[in-house]
Amino acid sequence: MILSILAYGDPVLRKIGKTINKDYPQLKELIANMWETMYNANGVGLAAPQIGLPIRLFVVDTGPFADDEELTPEEQATLKNFKKVFINAKIEEESGSNWTFNEGCLSIPDIREDVNRKDTIEILYLDEDFNEHKETYDGLLARVIQHEYDHIEGILFTDKLSSLKKRLLKGKLANISKGKIEVDYKMRFPDLKKVR
Ligand code: NI
Repeated sequence: MILSILAYGDPVLRKIGKTINKDYPQLKELIANMWETMYNANGVGLAAPQIGLPIRLFVVDTGPFADDEELTPEEQATLKNFKKVFINAKIEEESGSNWTFNEGCLSIPDIREDVNRKDTIEILYLDEDFNEHKETYDGLLARVIQHEYDHIEGILFTDKLSSLKKRLLKGKLANISKGKIEVDYKMRFPDLKKVR
């Protein structure tokens, strides 16, 4: 089932996600719905707060990035095959040099901005079967995970922009909250009722 994606301004996007356990109701179905919702919107990641659930769960499939011709065949293969569910994730460490990447977000359609983040992360998480993993990721993989991880911490990529950039985007962000935007997937806008 395709779920509605919450738009910028929804208070759920600002909540710190709660950890969950195996007994979380209909978890398998929820994860399946998140994949379906993400693919329908052509995303490479989706976090539970974006569909209205403030819990520590996100999914990542970097497949669409594998076509980037600037990457080595090895990097392409890694991105092509990376499809994972992250439950109760905790980034233990971020290291390496800072680099900028042009990020977007399904909750903030039509805005893309360069965001500065560290290259490498060490992350502890559970997969969908609640097996524990500790992994190190870098480059684009780390980037997508950092972005989704921020969602379960109540952080959006626009928070990381300069105050000048934020000021320039203010009107656009307000319009997104009001639903004054063309988008080809299902969304829920927090301020829509106020303008009708
Ligand atoms: Ni996002």
